[in-house]
Amino acid sequence: MKILVTGGAGYIGSHTCVELLQEGYDVAVLDNLSNSSKESLIRVEKITKKSLAFFHADLLDTAAVTQIFSRFRPDAVIHFAGLKAVGESVTMPLTYFHNNITGTLNLLSVMAQSGPKNIVFSSSATVYGDPASLPITEDFPLSAANPYGRTKLMIEEILTDLFHADPEWNIALLRYFNPMGAHASGLIGEDPQGIPNNLVPFISRVAIGSLDRLQVFGNDYDTPDGTGVRDFIHVTDLACGHIKTLPKLFSNPGIVTYNLGTGRGYSVLEMVEGFQRACGCSIPYDIVPRRPGDIAACWADPTKAKKELGWEAVKTLDDMCKDTWNWQKNNPQGYAA
Ligand code: NAD
Ligand code: WQD
Repeated sequence: MKILVTGGAGYIGSHTCVELLQEGYDVAVLDNLSNSSKESLIRVEKITKKSLAFFHADLLDTAAVTQIFSRFRPDAVIHFAGLKAVGESVTMPLTYFHNNITGTLNLLSVMAQSGPKNIVFSSSATVYGDPASLPITEDFPLSAANPYGRTKLMIEEILTDLFHADPEWNIALLRYFNPMGAHASGLIGEDPQGIPNNLVPFISRVAIGSLDRLQVFGNDYDTPDGTGVRDFIHVTDLACGHIKTLPKLFSNPGIVTYNLGTGRGYSVLEMVEGFQRACGCSIPYDIVPRRPGDIAACWADPTKAKKELGWEAVKTLDDMCKDTWNWQKNNPQGYAA
């Protein structure tokens, strides 16, 4: 069975490639390397002792995408490729709409023409906006608070319309909560460029000494310790969610949606404590005002994925912090070194 992974050189994509190869799938990656490095794929091959095909191409280049489909002839596509920085999307909305929406439209047009009509799409818990209650089930109302989130919501809507127009499509919308961690080997992990926006990469840079202090954005939320609460999920658990989704996709389900989260939330301060346990060092922090646009708390109800896919997250907070630290300390410059 052949799987084309768009954005496969990136953080979640590379971990998913490991699991795909270990499950015996034939894998090809399409990536423009705009936010990743080919080194991640070399390491995927090192971990699995298997090889994959790599196409250095941009989804905005329809001719290149068409050629890749006629050469590789995938049975399904896992579509990770996209820009994902919330703050950047606010200052560069056109870039985000063009890359994420036009890129996806190009991909879908090629798939509509040549097949396969089987796609797993990387959506996000961001499509739930500020939820009215917790935990979040898949039927909660949807909204977007920024251009990045709007691209996710729009692509979900595009895929839904596509299925209504042509029921031959099989589409899985996977809504990820907050991925973190790294492969247990320490060979692949998250490698953000510049100063990280997200909590976990920021904490790891403080732990390694390349950043001085963490800023905790607000301790006056209505949460047990006043700091924001999120459903952090190990990236390997998330990758396995894709492996469990593929048989579902091939069983002709039409369009299906699943939350991929653990079902429990940890606060920013609990994450700091977890990381301190993992690295054995102290993470200095200051409490600063809330970050605009942040919500107080967010965690998944993952029951549907457990019932219908037989998937659930198994890694603990300590596993997540330990694996993040193992990757960070072995690769202080990320893939650049
Ligand atoms: P990432 O940036 O590490 O990976 C995305 C990959 O897509 C990169 O390798 C990049 O080079 C590639 N890419 C971007 N635009 C492309 C284009 N036009 N053509 C070809 N390749 C292109 O991000 P990630 O964290 O691995 O996220 C993967 C997907 O999951 C994204 O769609 C993201 O929006 C979604 N997601 C991520 C998170 C998260 O917190 N990391 C949470 C929810 C959803
Ligand atoms: C988590 C908590 C912050 C940094 C983002 C995207 C979302 C999804 C996942 C893709 C919050 C606090 C953070 C820091 C802090 N991505 N924090 N100091 O905002 O839940 O989700 O990534 O789809 O769309 O918005 O994740 O890691 O940025 O923040 O105190 O330096 O950590 O306020 O409570 P978020 P995050």
